[in-house]
Amino acid sequence: MTRTVEPHLFVIFGGAGDLARRKLIPSLYELLVEKNLTDDVAILGVGRRNLTDAEYRDIVGESLVSARISGESADRWCGGRLHYQSVGGDEGYAGLAKRLKEVDELHGLEGNRIFYLALSPTAARQAIPEIGASGLVTETSKIVIEKPFGSDLESAQHLNEVVHGWFDEGRIYRIDHYLAKETVRNLLVFRFANALFERTWNRDYIESVEITVAEDHGVEGREGYYDEAGAVRDMVQNHLTQLLTLVAMEPPVDMQPESIRTEKVKVLASMGRIEPDNVVFGQYTRSGEVPGYRDLDGVPEDSTTPTYVAMRIAIENWRWQGVPFFLRTGKRMPERMTRIFIRYRQPPVCLFHDDCSGHRNLLLMTLQPNEGFDLYFDVKAPGDEIEIKRIPLSVRYEDHLGALSSDYSTLLHDLMEGDQTLFVRADEVEASWTRYAELLDPTAVDPYAAGTWGPQRGIDLPAADDSQWSEEEIEGSATG
Ligand code: BG6
Repeated sequence: MTRTVEPHLFVIFGGAGDLARRKLIPSLYELLVEKNLTDDVAILGVGRRNLTDAEYRDIVGESLVSARISGESADRWCGGRLHYQSVGGDEGYAGLAKRLKEVDELHGLEGNRIFYLALSPTAARQAIPEIGASGLVTETSKIVIEKPFGSDLESAQHLNEVVHGWFDEGRIYRIDHYLAKETVRNLLVFRFANALFERTWNRDYIESVEITVAEDHGVEGREGYYDEAGAVRDMVQNHLTQLLTLVAMEPPVDMQPESIRTEKVKVLASMGRIEPDNVVFGQYTRSGEVPGYRDLDGVPEDSTTPTYVAMRIAIENWRWQGVPFFLRTGKRMPERMTRIFIRYRQPPVCLFHDDCSGHRNLLLMTLQPNEGFDLYFDVKAPGDEIEIKRIPLSVRYEDHLGALSSDYSTLLHDLMEGDQTLFVRADEVEASWTRYAELLDPTAVDPYAAGTWGPQRGIDLPAADDSQWSEEEIEGSATG
């Protein structure tokens, strides 16, 4: 589908901050070059620091070089289309209003403004009323809010109220960068463009579903934020829940953003209460050279913030009744991998074995890294005897489709086009906080050594449903 992109002014709050420099501006530049739009967009960085345009251009120039982007065109772009305004001085937002008008006129951007809040949740909440009350919002303005959207149901509702005071829902873009990953977007195509899978995508054929987002690194210098957040706020309420809704949703009536988002909200409405017995929290401890979570500067010695959580979720609807969904995420796991793992039911009659428990089809959808699919099925090994082996039919994205585009470029393009499919709706974010309300601040966490698959109770969690985690099940396959 082709849409046209209007000229836009990106007003980036936190314009010289980490997110803007590391991800946002390099992705925006790459996108503009790729789509031949460099002359249609200007940036006004906003912050409390006092910087001239020239100083800001140097900062952005350096960030492009660090992102391995340089050359004449990048220099020209940085030279002409980047501006900076401080809101830290006496003039504050009044100064910003004046500057916005000037920059708008200078580049002929017709008042199409994108207020991009690359800020902490608290700073974002404070900035929104200032933006509104200072008369910066034009009819066509949009606002972008990074995750986490609030820190619980109450704060998310409050933030929604604040932002709705100045922007219609159709102009609010809540980011969850997982939605922009190619492999995540492909979930809908995989399910609804291939009748083969959709026919069996239900409780009659599927025994359990696993969603794992494992990371081999720790909290990487974000101790202050992370110790307040923990694994449920940081990963489950947003990224894992997005994956869950895409896996479990019903086919939408069409591919319009509202049709898709409505189906996702229905999944959240069907989620049963998560019983305490079905959740395991963990926190990593020292292992060799790798310090434990509590050893980190900025983390209290008695912190009970979970760096790992595993849970069993029930989706109580016609399609999924009785099928456990196992969700798991952790820092300092043995490897980085994001996967969706579908365990199909065993054949109804076990003809080739005394015990058919290890014989079932498996679908492993690897979202990162080494993106692709592996469909495991049984074959007869050569020889007189009937010996069965489980082997994978494997597809790696890059072998067929080349490089995948970066998360942020996709989101920025959709944002300029006004396509909200990959952004989270107000009711969706609230429904998600509601579901996890009881899990946000655990008082007890099980220790696990850095570099392992989490605490033993987490490893054992699927056993109550005669299931196991994907790494164990796949290792159990004949070809491992
Ligand atoms: C962020 C979390 O939203 O997502 C981080 O705050 C996490 O803690 C990151 O590491 C994971 O993103 P990705 O794209 O690397 O899987």
